[in-house]
Parts: sequence; structure tokens; C-alpha cells
Amino acid sequence: MRTTKEIRELYLKFFESKGHTVIPSASLIPENDPTVLFTTAGMHPLVPYLLGEAHPGGKRLASCQKCIRTIDIDEVGDATHLTFFEMLGNWSLGDYFKKDAIEMSWEFLTSEKWLNLNKKLIAVSVFKGDDDAPFDEEAFSIWRSLGVPEARIAKLPKKNNWWGPAGETGPCGPDTEMFYWTGNPDKVPDSFNDDNVLWVEIWNDVFMQYNKTKEGTYVPLKQKNVDTGMGLERTVMVLNGKKSVFEIDEFVKIISAILSSAGQIHEISETEGIPTFVYPRGPLGKNITEEESTKAVRVIADHLRAATFILGDEKGITPSNVGQGYVLRRLIRRTIRYGKLIGINMKFTTHVGRKIIETYQNQYPELKKNESKILDELEKEEEKFAVALEQGIKEFEKNTQKKDRPLLAPHGGGRLAPHVITGIEAFNLYQTYGFPKELIQELCKERDIVFDENGFDEEFKKHQELSRTASAGAFKGGLADHSDEVVKYHTATHLLHKALRETLGDHVEQKGSNLTAERLRFDFSHLQKMTPEELKKVEDRVNEIIKKDLPVHFEMLSVEEAKKRGAIGLFEEKYKGLGEKVKVYFIGNYSAEICGGPHVEHTGQIGSFKIAKEEAVAAGIRRIKAVRA
Ligand code: ALA
Repeated sequence: MRTTKEIRELYLKFFESKGHTVIPSASLIPENDPTVLFTTAGMHPLVPYLLGEAHPGGKRLASCQKCIRTIDIDEVGDATHLTFFEMLGNWSLGDYFKKDAIEMSWEFLTSEKWLNLNKKLIAVSVFKGDDDAPFDEEAFSIWRSLGVPEARIAKLPKKNNWWGPAGETGPCGPDTEMFYWTGNPDKVPDSFNDDNVLWVEIWNDVFMQYNKTKEGTYVPLKQKNVDTGMGLERTVMVLNGKKSVFEIDEFVKIISAILSSAGQIHEISETEGIPTFVYPRGPLGKNITEEESTKAVRVIADHLRAATFILGDEKGITPSNVGQGYVLRRLIRRTIRYGKLIGINMKFTTHVGRKIIETYQNQYPELKKNESKILDELEKEEEKFAVALEQGIKEFEKNTQKKDRPLLAPHGGGRLAPHVITGIEAFNLYQTYGFPKELIQELCKERDIVFDENGFDEEFKKHQELSRTASAGAFKGGLADHSDEVVKYHTATHLLHKALRETLGDHVEQKGSNLTAERLRFDFSHLQKMTPEELKKVEDRVNEIIKKDLPVHFEMLSVEEAKKRGAIGLFEEKYKGLGEKVKVYFIGNYSAEICGGPHVEHTGQIGSFKIAKEEAVAAGIRRIKAVRA
């Protein structure tokens, strides 16, 4: 049995023995990079060096980098997805390339001296080639020369085996990914299948050999780099034969603290320093299934770990309604909601937070150093959310105690029994107080109140449709007037959307848009009235981008690729007949948004931009009207 600490150290020791300089983890908050909120990979802090600047550590580097990827937030709770994770990585800055990179990966994975993983349970994938770049025959042959059977080397498209910059241009290239079979070893399939979740991806070697130009062509790079990323939690999971990352040693300690908070008596058995968590039988909490209970515990463990690391980072982020602070707030509030679901009725975030600090303080001393700040902020946010919850519950009770209310739409007419909560009332709780449907269900069950779930779903759909219609409108209907003026306002809307997200945070999402030849109108999610300073900042930013005269173009991309390249917008909007592709409009490398167009060719054509009005349209939704001055 092997611990997380041991594997982290082993990896760095291996690459040190291969001439790499071990560099420390950079901050979770990227330096000088307004395009992303968090460090999402080990390569992130190394971008200038991948582009040719000399690194003081030389041409071979290795690290264990703390990372956050919120794109996976909805998948947290399954066996392998996390918002915070530790990424082991090694880099060649114009030094070794495919042969050495793959051979080193293989040696580390399979040599008795290192991980000693079973070769028979390993599969890999390589880039199969397309119009932009050829099949990665070199990587394929290297794997074959190491004895990997042909059937275990999948040839996959860009969607799977290509890694590139979030923006429009920059270094990119094919990659080769390594997977480990986590099912019954006697039933390991001969070939690798991308859809089978029992094949868990543990490592990715990226071969940065192209520069993608503004014209969309792939030009070979002078300095060819290797960028690799190995998921530490997943590696420890497969090494110890565990079925999920939440069963590795570090998570067992955290989950144990969560279970104590829930008043759950549980056992941890320890073998050779590795705690094994004996999962309690049956679900925690009332009225939830065992599966929901397990998911809730996992979400709490993941989110609180991420929140603790964000709060412990030297950059001093605290919960707020903008940027990283907003993500932090969401993580903590989601934690508390899931806590309620499993029956935790007391404050628990600091208890679990303390355990997380204790677990990681040796590797990440900033956690111990900032311990009181971390715990204070967790406690404050938990109290704030308790107030919002309390207000929401009061509102809920007001709704359900009112007598003789007329029955509300969509069912129309009649009187309403006092013990029913209507779809609209429930939807308002959702929108104003952040009550998820499951919380409303629970409150209703507890108080013996009938919840009009269909009504809630209808409201929900209606609102989704409203925003979808608004954006579909921008595709065609809303642009019934195809005059040049409208097209200019359409592009200006994309700039406004992006500038709002930069200024207020990533929680800003389009809720509606309407264009005429005289003005644009844009509705978006944001809680407070914008300040005059914020409005000026947004206006100035849009004008700055207009002045830059950035080119506008679109590309048809898979949803994954669009996400990878930072596109915003409605990902459900797929184009019939084009498979899973979406159309993404790029404005220079400033904005990427899913949209049907049309748009101007250069931002200079917009002329100038002035915000005429900012107002509320619904709880949590603001509206901006703007004109071309
Ligand atoms: N940067 C590559 C990744 O994150 C290694 O997968």
C-alpha cells in the first residue's frame, strides 16, 4: 500500500534522477493572466518558458502543482472528478521530445523500482490525425517498441488527443494519454474503449510542436516542448486498487471528519499506515438514497478541500460575488447544502477545514500559515449562508401559511389549499435565496406540504427557454432586421458580455438579448446594482477592444474543444446535422462565444460604445441598454 505523500515524492525523485529541476507549486491564482480565474494545469505558470524564455531551472523541470478546474463541478461525486487536485508534471523546454518523454512515463509507471503498475492493465491513446496535423505515428511506434499491444493503443481525434491554449492562437500539439484498468483484472478488455469509465486516465504527455496562427493554420514550432500532467489522486487510487479517488488516504481523513459532523459512527481500519474507511451501511440523512448520500459526502470533501486551498493561497481571496471569490462562495455554500442533505445540523466547515489543513500542511505550509484566516472565513460564510437560508425558509413558510390564495399560473383559476407550495413560489425561492430543488423537496416533506414539482419544472423550463429564445433570437429571429447596424450591435453584445464577466466575475451569464438598429439590450445574472465605477470600467474596456480593431471569425468545434478554448454561452445549443458541433465566434483572442452570428469582420466597425442604462429586471438579473455613441 502506498500513500499520497510517498507517490508525490517518488515522482519528483524519479524526474530529478533524470536531470529535472524540481520547482515549487505556483499560486492557485494565476499571475498576470486575466483570461482564467485559477491555475488549471502544471503548465499554466510555465507559459512564458514554453514560448521560449529561459527558465532559471534549465530545460528540464518537474513539479507538483495545486490546480482548480471548476468545469468538472457537476461531475464531482463520481469516482474520479475533483474541482481541486494535485497535478504531477514534467517538462522539456526544447530539450527531449517524444521518445524520451514516453519512455520515462513508461519506466515510472511500470518499473519495479518506481510504481510497478501491471503492464497488462495499461492502455494508451494517440492522435489519429486530421486535416491540420498528421497521425502521430512516432508516438504510436514508441509505444509499440515498449511492448504495448496494438489493440491497446487507441487512435483518437483532436477532441481527445490534442492539447492547446485556451485562446485562439499559441503553442499546441498532439498528446498521448495513459489509462489504467480499474475493473476486475481478470476481465480486462483487449482493447481500450474511451466510453468505459473503468479505464481511468492517469497521465497525459503533450507534445507541443505547433503554433496555431490567427489564420487557423498549424505551423511547426521552433522550440518543441513536452508538457505532462499526471493526476496524483487518481494515481494513488489505481495503485492501491481503490474504486474512487475518495478512498485514498488523504480523503479518508477528510471524510472521517465529515462523518463525525454528521454524527455517524464509523470505523477506519489501518494497514501499513493506510487508513481504509469502512463506509457506513445505509444512507446518511433522511429521505435520501444511499447513492445520494455517498455523492453528498464526496461533494463536501471535494468542495471544502478546494475552498480551504483557495483561502490558504497567498493571494488572499475571500468569498465575494466576483471572480475567484464567487467560485469560493459557491463551493462553500454548496458544501453546506449537501451537509444539510446528510443531516448535519450544526456548523461543520471549520471542523472539517481543520482536518484538511492538518492533512496537507507539510506539503503546503501556506495552509498552516493562514490557518486562522481559513477558519474565520469558513465560519463567516457559513453564518452568512445560514442567514440567507433562514430568510428563505421564512419566505417559504409565509408562502405555505397564506390562506385562500388564488391559484397561480400555470394552472389558473380556483383557490389554493394552504398546504401547497406552487411552482412559482418554489422557483422564487430557488432564484432569490439559492434554494435548490432538493432542499425545497426536503422542507416540504418535513412539514407535510405538497410541492408542485411539475409547476416548478415548468417555471424552470420557461426561464431556460426565455434565455434560450433570447440567444436563439440572436442566431436568426432576433436578427430579422439584418441591417449593418444590428450586426454591429450584435458584436458589441459579445464584447459587453465578456467585459461584464471580466469586471464582475464569471457568474455573469447571458439571460436575454434583444437588438434593434438603434440599441442593444442585454440581460445577465448579477445580484447587485452595478456601481458607476463598474459601469465605466466595462464601457472603457469595450471601447478599448473596439479601438484595437480585432478580427472576428468563427469555427465549428466539438463541445469539449469549445470548452477547452474558453467559449462561453449555451452549450446545449448544438447544430443539427453537424453532430455534436457548435459554432463559436472568436473576437481576436478577447472573446469566444457560442453563437450563430452574423458579426462584423473587425471590431473597429462598431465605432464606439456607450452604456445608457443599467437596471434590475428580476431578482438576480440586471439589464443593460447601450448605444453606439
Ligand atoms: N497540460 C496537460 C494537461 O493538463 C498536461 O492535461
